[in-house]
This record gives sequence, C-alpha cells and structure tokens, in this order.
Amino acid sequence: MSFKGQHILSVKQFDRDSITRVFDIARQMAPYAGRKKRTRVLDGAILGNLFFEPSTRTRVSFGCAFNLLGGEVRETTGMESSALSKGESLFDTARVISSYSDVIAMRHPQAGSVAEFAEGSRVPVLNGGDGANEHPTQALLDLFTIERELAASGLQIDGMHIAMVGDLKFGRTVHSLSKLLCLYRNIKLTLVSPAELAMPDDIVSSLTNAGHQLVISDKLEGHLNADIVYQTRIQEERFPSKADADQYRGKFRLNQEIYTRYCKSNTVIMHPLPRDSRMEANELDNDLNLNPNLAIFRQADNGVLVRMALFALTLGVENIVKDYECAVPWYSNK
Ligand code: CP
Repeated sequence: MSFKGQHILSVKQFDRDSITRVFDIARQMAPYAGRKKRTRVLDGAILGNLFFEPSTRTRVSFGCAFNLLGGEVRETTGMESSALSKGESLFDTARVISSYSDVIAMRHPQAGSVAEFAEGSRVPVLNGGDGANEHPTQALLDLFTIERELAASGLQIDGMHIAMVGDLKFGRTVHSLSKLLCLYRNIKLTLVSPAELAMPDDIVSSLTNAGHQLVISDKLEGHLNADIVYQTRIQEERFPSKADADQYRGKFRLNQEIYTRYCKSNTVIMHPLPRDSRMEANELDNDLNLNPNLAIFRQADNGVLVRMALFALTLGVENIVKDYECAVPWYSNK
C-alpha cells in the first residue's frame, strides 16, 4: 500500500506489510515524541482537526503528532460550534476545510460519515472514529502496543490469547482491532459481554474464517487467563438513554484482587480509554494503577507515535524527517 495522498478510513485498507511499515516509522518517531530531538519536516503544513463528538486522546494526540512534526493545527470541536448544525452538508464542509488544510483528522457520531466527508475532500482524511463503526488509528496503536507488550514476554501477536471485555457491540475500537487481527494467525479470542452487547456477527464470522479460536461468554469468571485483557467502557452515547446503558455498567469489573486471583502473572491490561471511573461502572479499578502490566497509559502514549507515522506517510515525508531536525533549546523531562 502506498500511503501518500491516501485517506485512512478503515483498517480494511491495511495488510501485514503496510502495518509493518507504519510501525517501523512509528518507532522512528520516538525521539521526537520524547522531545529528545525536534523536526520541522511539516513546517507550513496545516492539519484540520475536526471533532464533532467528545474526545480527549484522539483529538489532542492528532494535534500533538502534527505539531511534533513541525505543522500547525486548526481545530473545531462539537457539532454546535460548526455550520453542520445549520444544515451544511459533509461534502460542502469537506470542500471548504480541505482548501484550508493539507490533511484532515475527523471524528463524527454517524457510522460512514467520515468516508462521506472524504468524498468531498481534496486532501487526505484520517478517520478519528465514526459512530460505532471504526476507529482505525486506535486499532493501529492498539496493535502496536500489543506487539510491544507481548515482546517483553517473548510472545507475538500470532498465537496470542486476547480477551475482549465489555461493550463489544458499540465499541468501535474492538471492531477495528478484531478486523486487524484477521490478518494474523492462530489467535485465541475470548469475547466477554452481555448477550445484548455481543460482538457483531459479521466480525465474529471474519475472525472464525481467519482460523482463530473463539470463546464467547457473558461471564468474566474463568476468562481472564489471557496474554492480553482488553477492557472497554459501556458506550453510553450509543444507547437510547442513560438508563438503558446503566443496566450494563459495572458487570465486568477488573481490580487488583481479581487480577491476582485469575490473571496470569504477566497478563497485560489494555483499555482504549476513557475508562469509566464512576463508582457504578469502574471497569478498571484505580488500585491497578501501580500494576506494571497495566499498559493503558503506554497505549495512549503510543497513539502519538502511530499518528505521527500516519501523517508522515500520508504527506510523503517519512524518509526525510531527519533532514529537518533542529535544536531543542528548552528543558523537557519527557
Ligand atoms: N481512545 C479514544 O478514542 O479516546 P478519546 O475518546 O478520548 O479520543
């Protein structure tokens, strides 16, 4: 896959070679993300960062990633502060914003909306999440994290055991990650959710057709003995009402006591974040914060590396980043 000038809308665009390429470039970004070095390779370029749905990590890490490559960020947040709320179409918005920008990152609550927007865009569009459909950059950073974390135990993605837990119906991160895992071999997947929030059938079929071994359960007990436990939040924003979401909150909690009793000593805990830390939910307890196998913040940090790589690749500068290095005159303890 050649990335230059391409939209990144779905994980279906990737094969193993293109994933390896993204990860190679992501690793090269570490000194810049860690403020050990600076580069101005995207000096003069503008990112249009359009978030029509709440976000902390994806929005800010897209912006940071672009800044760290020397580019500028122009942002709009919330539907109400956009002319979409006056009836403007996604196509018209795309035509206008793409004339102001060199690349666009976008999140929107409707499935398919980012692809529709991309049809009107003259510059590459990166999907930052479209409803319950996909979150491809999150899936790439999740896979990057899984590869890194497993390597510490001498394991690989091929042959691993991952348990996905929680809202597997509306959780777009588990949808995109599952699709990427279809490119790998001999994985055991344990899918734990309430029956009403089960992984969509088409994704289960794809995983089965990829030759993976699936266990589906509505109970957490007996299913935590995995290499990776990928916990998720009940996606309240996709339910008709808060009360509808409330009935599922707090069903699959993981805390240190449960970890010690049921997980392996090196089980890696992941979560796309935000974790819902309200008492009635608390799917990942704060008492895990000092557990060295809690990878959630390393996972979020990896988002900057992967998004830097995607910007470098889509704008065709991945091989000249070093040529534009400059001094770091200020102190940073990163
Ligand atoms: N993981 C993730 O998409 O987080 P935000 O909603 O904060 O962007």
